[in-house]
Amino acid sequence: MKKQFFNTPDKVKDIELWGFNWLEYVTAVPAPLVLLTGYKNNGLANATMDSWFCFSSENDFYCIFGSVNKYTHMYEVAKNQKQLVINFCGKDNIDKCMLTIENNGYDTDELALSGLHYHNGSKVNAPVVEECFLNLECEFAWEKPLFDGSDHFVICTKVVNVWIDEERYKTDPFGRYGENGYLYNIHAPIDPETEEQIKSRYGVIKPL
Ligand SMILES: Cc1cc2nc3c(=O)[nH]c(=O)nc-3n(C[C@H](O)[C@H](O)[C@H](O)COP(=O)(O)O)c2cc1C
Repeated sequence: MKKQFFNTPDKVKDIELWGFNWLEYVTAVPAPLVLLTGYKNNGLANATMDSWFCFSSENDFYCIFGSVNKYTHMYEVAKNQKQLVINFCGKDNIDKCMLTIENNGYDTDELALSGLHYHNGSKVNAPVVEECFLNLECEFAWEKPLFDGSDHFVICTKVVNVWIDEERYKTDPFGRYGENGYLYNIHAPIDPETEEQIKSRYGVIKPL
């Protein structure tokens, strides 16, 4: 039987929601996990984990980030440098990518400190992470606050160059999916009736 949920149950008010609405955890729609990279104002490599984004395409190909916190270095990078790279994490490099959250000092090269290697983009001035099988070089297009006074911005970028490991599309047409392909963020699903919540997990896509 399908049930409806809109009011926040009392018990949920005791759960740490980390700034998200509780319906985020009821729906728990998985989204790909990426590492956004760019150069900070001091020229050092910045890295930000992100999984709130989607793509759009009309003639050009765009990536729209739905929730960039204005207090992150990435917001500064997007606003000031106007260039960034979207690096897709796989299960073999996710631990190093996640390490960049701990190695988040302004005066550090967050990629080198986390054991990741990179070269510069060919169309944009931003780091392309070698361990990631797909990298999208992007230019800033526009931004808008999520709502008036929000700390989160919707940022649209235009994809201007794509790097993809040829093994992913030559040897196996489904090489982008399955065990070694795109990694998804399964964000702490909650049972809306018992308010039981499980920890966030990573997932992969299995083509049917
Ligand atoms: C799975 C995952 C997804 C995330 N998605 C976002 C996101 O969409 N927007 C955001 O602002 N922060 C997001 N974060 C938090 C940032 O990655 C984190 O605050 C990071 O340290 C910011 O780095 P920076 O200050 O170098 O930009 C996410 C973190 C994780 C673990």
